[in-house]
Amino acid sequence: MEGAKKMKRIGVLTSGGDAPGMNAIIRAVARTAMHFGIECVGIRRGYAGLINSDFVMLETNMVRHILGRGGTILYTARCDEFMTEKGREKAVATCKMLGLDGIVAVGGDGTFKGALELSRLGVPVMGIPATIDNDIGCSNYTIGFDSACNTAIDCIDKLRDTMQSHERCSVVEVMGRHAGFLALYVGIAVGATSVLIPEHPVDFEQDIVQRIQNSRLAGVTHFMIVVAEGAGSAFEIARKIKETVGIDPRVTVLGHIQRGGAPTGRDRETATRMGYYAVRAFAEGRSGNVIATREGGIVEIPIEEALTMKKHLQMDRYEILEAIAASGAIHKN
Ligand code: F6P
Repeated sequence: MEGAKKMKRIGVLTSGGDAPGMNAIIRAVARTAMHFGIECVGIRRGYAGLINSDFVMLETNMVRHILGRGGTILYTARCDEFMTEKGREKAVATCKMLGLDGIVAVGGDGTFKGALELSRLGVPVMGIPATIDNDIGCSNYTIGFDSACNTAIDCIDKLRDTMQSHERCSVVEVMGRHAGFLALYVGIAVGATSVLIPEHPVDFEQDIVQRIQNSRLAGVTHFMIVVAEGAGSAFEIARKIKETVGIDPRVTVLGHIQRGGAPTGRDRETATRMGYYAVRAFAEGRSGNVIATREGGIVEIPIEEALTMKKHLQMDRYEILEAIAASGAIHKN
């Protein structure tokens, strides 16, 4: 949408599962808006806030000291009412009532679907990908992924200490919804015995039983199995290991702890750039796009196209993991 009228006031909302770095985006959006002489309104609780007119003015004080804070000061929600025509009409009415010339929507695919609906109803929107799952097709990177990986790595390092002491097997379930980005990255970083991801069919005998046996034959006495939530239940995997291998694994589901905590430097920096570019696009008269990362740079992708794009897990990472884990099991040193 080139050549649109100059924006005077925009809204920003966070929607779907929260992710470390969302506050850094909110700060960047508000500060960049000020820079371009645009007022910024924080819409609370995602699309529900647009429907219910739940908002807060984002003045300088509101976004001070939030760059390094986890969660989202605007709260987040998944909103069923926004799925209905009536709900969306109410949301558009709120935009009109508050004089919002555009909305920056921060979240995952669900958030962008909502943004697309809004733009079809005439509200200019920009999307910013933020989810610990890193599963947004149009962007190499999504805000929160690095922080969640580091949190999971930290937890698993701690688990390893106790597994090592007791010579046990640990089965750890990590988040990721239907994708294995988080599990594979974390699995490589913690030197897992085996990683189960939805993108790779699980061969229980080869991927787990043989790995544990080979490791044991090489002198290893503790084992770390990382399971992506989309690849199956850690409890079920542990039960099968007990049945087949005869050892009694301990199960840890890392769960929502992965979504909390201070964002890493990478998340703060990328969030700040994405927030800046989203508002700059508005200031330059563009809208209807998702801000995405490509080979280190920032690009804009039309939301409709962004929603059709698929991102594949780099399977060489799986091969690397297999090669390293297998050779560690064969060579004792
Ligand atoms: O999309 C982020 C995510 O944390 C997924 O990894 C997970 O499957 C889901 O959200 C959990 O959602 P909820 O917070 O609604 O339980």
